Formats: sequence, C-alpha cells, structure tokens
Amino acid sequence: MSRPSPLPSPILSVRHLKVYFRPRSIWPWQRHGRIHAVDDLHLDLRAGETLGIVGESGCGKSTLARALIGLQAPTSGSIRYAGRELAGLSKKDWQPLRRELQMVFQDPLGSLNPKMTIGQIVAEPLRALCPEIDAAEHPQRVAEMLERVGLSRDIVDRHPHEFSGGQAQRIGIARALIVKPKVLICDEAVSALDVSVRAQIVNLLVELRQEYGLTLIFIAHDLAIVRYLCDRVLVMYLGKVMEQAGAADLFGTPKHPYTRALMAAAPAGAAAPAVEASGDKKKAKKRRPPAGDLPNPAHPPMGCVYHTRCPLMETACVGAVPSLRRVGPEHYAACHFVAAPDSAELQR
Ligand SMILES: Nc1ncnc2c1ncn2[C@@H]1O[C@H](COP(=O)(O)OP(=O)(O)OP(=O)(O)O)[C@@H](O)[C@H]1O
Ligand code: SF4
Ligand SMILES: [Mg+2]
Repeated sequence: MSRPSPLPSPILSVRHLKVYFRPRSIWPWQRHGRIHAVDDLHLDLRAGETLGIVGESGCGKSTLARALIGLQAPTSGSIRYAGRELAGLSKKDWQPLRRELQMVFQDPLGSLNPKMTIGQIVAEPLRALCPEIDAAEHPQRVAEMLERVGLSRDIVDRHPHEFSGGQAQRIGIARALIVKPKVLICDEAVSALDVSVRAQIVNLLVELRQEYGLTLIFIAHDLAIVRYLCDRVLVMYLGKVMEQAGAADLFGTPKHPYTRALMAAAPAGAAAPAVEASGDKKKAKKRRPPAGDLPNPAHPPMGCVYHTRCPLMETACVGAVPSLRRVGPEHYAACHFVAAPDSAELQR
C-alpha cells in the first residue's frame, strides 16, 4: 500500500503562546486579574497553506494575529518563523522580518492614513522595509501593484476618503503585498464590506495567493468564506484552541461542542455541518447555538473554559483542562468527551 508523502514542516510554529493584558477599566475593583486574550495556544502553519481562524468576538483572534507579526509582545511562549524565534525579539531585530509577515486589517478606510496620498501609502512599506530598492523605482512598483489589485495607476495623488470600502481594501492589500511577503494575515479583511464586494476581494485574494505563493491566515466570522477559502481551520474560544482540522473535515464532522454551536448559529448554508455526526443521541438532542455571553476573560472558567455554556458539561469538565488531542487524521479537539478514533483510522 502506498503511503502519503510526509507533510512539509511548518513555516510558522506557535507553542504555549500567552498574551495577557491588564484590564482597562477606570474602576479599581474591575482592574484585578489579567485578561487572558491568548492562553496557551499552539498552532502550525505550513508554507503555501491557508489557515482560517474563527471564534466569537473577543476570543483573541486579533491579539494572536498582532503577536504573530510583532505588533503585540507575548507574555510567554514561543513563535518560530522559518526556524527563528520571534518571541522576545527587539524592534531592531524584527525590522528585517516585517516584510515577510504582513497584515491586512478589518477597517479598510480607518487603516489608511487620511493625510497621505495613495501613492505614499502603498510606497511606505517599500521605504521603511526595503532599503535595497532605489526610491526612484518606487513609483513604477506602486503603479504596477495598484493595477494588480484592480485599481488604476492614476489614483496615486488621491486621498483615502475618495474611495469606497472595497477600493480602500484593495489599497490595503496593495500596501501589504508590495514588499512581497511570505505570510499574509487577513484580520476580518472582508467583514466590513458589502456581500458582492466581499466576494470580489475574496476572489482577488485567491488569485494573489496563487501568484505570490502566499501562506495565508484568514481570520473571519463568515464561516462560508472560511470554508471556501481555507485548507485548515482553527476554532478559538477564550484564547484557546478548541478544535483544529482540515476545512472539509471540520465542516463535515465537527467534533467539539463549541464548533458545533458556532456552526448551528451560522446562517443557513454558511456552514451546514453534519451536526449529528458523532456522540450519543441523548447528548446530541441538547445541542443548540452558544447560550449566554462569553465569560470575563480576566477570570476564565476553571477546567474546560467552555463549560459554563456547554450543553454537554459534566463534573469532570470543571475539574480538569482538556488537552488538545488528536481525534482523527490531522484533526484535533480539546474536549474530554470527544472519542479518539482507533489506531487504524489515525494511520490513514
Ligand atoms: N490592548 C489591550 N488591552 C486590554 N485588553 C485588550 C487589549 N487588546 C485586546 N484586549 C482584550 O483581549 C480580548 C481579546 O480581544 P481580541 O481583539 O483579540 O478579540 P477578537 O477575537 O479579535 O474579537 P473580534 O472578533 O471582536 O475582533 C478581549 O477581551 C479584548 O477586550
Ligand atoms: S470538556 Fe466538557 S465542557 Fe468542555 S467542551 Fe467537552 S463536554 Fe463541553
Ligand atoms: Mg479582532
């Protein structure tokens, strides 16, 4: 029997990553405890793959993204990129790496400096990060990049307020790609756009991913887009990974109760998983969209952080933190009650 070729080693590996914040409240009694924005998180990203990150608002997706590109210092843990440790790097040591890891932000207009022209905005990373490229070459590179993202080269002297959200996001993508990064993180990059414009930007990302050989992290609330675009998906809750699997696997047979609840809460057709895929029937009947609010991240629940909302919660869930276990080929879940498959299935 022929065996599948071994998976390539990851370009980005995150281990035990924690990012904690002091609460911002003006009231002293609300300032104790630290916000566990990212809490003991692991992830691997292979070159050329697209990883989707999903989870409710406030679960730590943007904090994770900011830590990965050096905008947020981790509290502890390791981030290895192309064999190099990034956690704890000084600003100076980060500088040569910034061009390799770029980000596109959620608020297309808000992320562009209103005082700068489009030409200046798109050329800025070249100026700051690519000292070897002669400034005389910048206008030509900017013009080509603008055309590549579907804009006219004649807009270089105009300002951000003259553009729609979709056009502004194209400018944001041009700004990120002009330095030819290896990894592009899109943090809710299409969430603020109308549905039709959203589809255009997603299609543009698909083309550019191929053309530039990009490794992509795509953070989104829209499960339908994640399912369409991503090879693998990571589900976050209160700073932790609840489940991680290939997109087809995750949407086809979600194993973790939180993933199931997220999918059940998504608009019809967005995720449409086999919600009854596993587990006993009595428990399956109790499934429903996430009830209640996200707990206070400064005081996360003991044991399984999802236990305060989980319809399948049992006493054991409060006593011990479930580890992220392999529950299928390339499929991981952090729940005490997701059964591990037999070894024959794992060897597939
Ligand atoms: N600089 C900061 N200081 C204090 N708390 C912060 C800071 N940045 C984020 N947080 C808190 O960390 C938690 C995670 O926030 P984060 O923005 O990473 O979530 P998110 O998953 O990106 O949410 P959304 O889907 O709304 O964008 C939240 O409780 C947030 O209030
Ligand atoms: S460990 Fe318990 S509380 Fe956590 S997801 Fe599993 S069943 Fe629910
Ligand atoms: Mg966010």
